[in-house]
Amino acid sequence: MTAQLNPRGDVAVLVPAAGAGVRLGPGGPKALRTLAGEPLLVHAVRRLAAAASVHTVVVAAPAAEVDHVRRRLAPVAPVTVVPGGAERQASVAAALAVVPAGPEIVLVHDAARALTPSDLIESVAAAVRAGHDAVIPVLPVVDTIRRVDAGEQALGTVDRSTLRSVQTPQGFRRSVLAAAHAAAADSLTDDAGLVERQGVPVRCVPGSEYALKITRPFDLTLAEHLLAAGA
Ligand code: CTP
Ligand code: MG
Repeated sequence: MTAQLNPRGDVAVLVPAAGAGVRLGPGGPKALRTLAGEPLLVHAVRRLAAAASVHTVVVAAPAAEVDHVRRRLAPVAPVTVVPGGAERQASVAAALAVVPAGPEIVLVHDAARALTPSDLIESVAAAVRAGHDAVIPVLPVVDTIRRVDAGEQALGTVDRSTLRSVQTPQGFRRSVLAAAHAAAADSLTDDAGLVERQGVPVRCVPGSEYALKITRPFDLTLAEHLLAAGA
């Protein structure tokens, strides 16, 4: 049985959470590392559960932690937990495989983006509902970006006005994501990249600074401060 949140919702969210968190340093799988005393995954799932359109949440957890994650999330929200895979794409595919009939919008959302506001979850879902088959939240790039060669010799500056940083949740019409995963030949790209290869246009919507991906220790410290300030 797949657990349900809002039975009238039209959105299923897949939460890849099976990564090791190598860049965060020693301390166990990243999704279970704590932020203000609670695992990143708990923060992420709580925000998903607060989004009114969400019908189903499926978490792909580290294989050795599935039972633990199930118990830890049970008091937070009714979610389904499956074992993830060796690559993020395999974790997403494992979660997609157990989405029940019903939701026609599927969002893919990194557990590592633990402070993502419920409003962003709704705005991505709304853009899919409005007819865009693939939707990504993006931010403008603020730094000057340069190409370099193998010896760290600076080459040209890239025109940043044409660049965007891409966040999650990424949103899809369900059939489009399922077809892209069925056709996926390698794991070098994100879900929107897979869909784009199928010739589906990808629509950008404004992202949120709060949806930062907690990757390195600095990000965890920043997230602690944001949470303390009311994020
Ligand atoms: N992820 C996953 N399965 C994997 C690898 C990653 O479900 N085999 C998830 C992570 O748990 C995370 C999201 O994909 O929520 C984004 O990945 P990333 O931020 O790179 O997390 P990690 O792979 O855990 O971190 P690192 O690359 O530093 O090891
Ligand atoms: Mg990774």
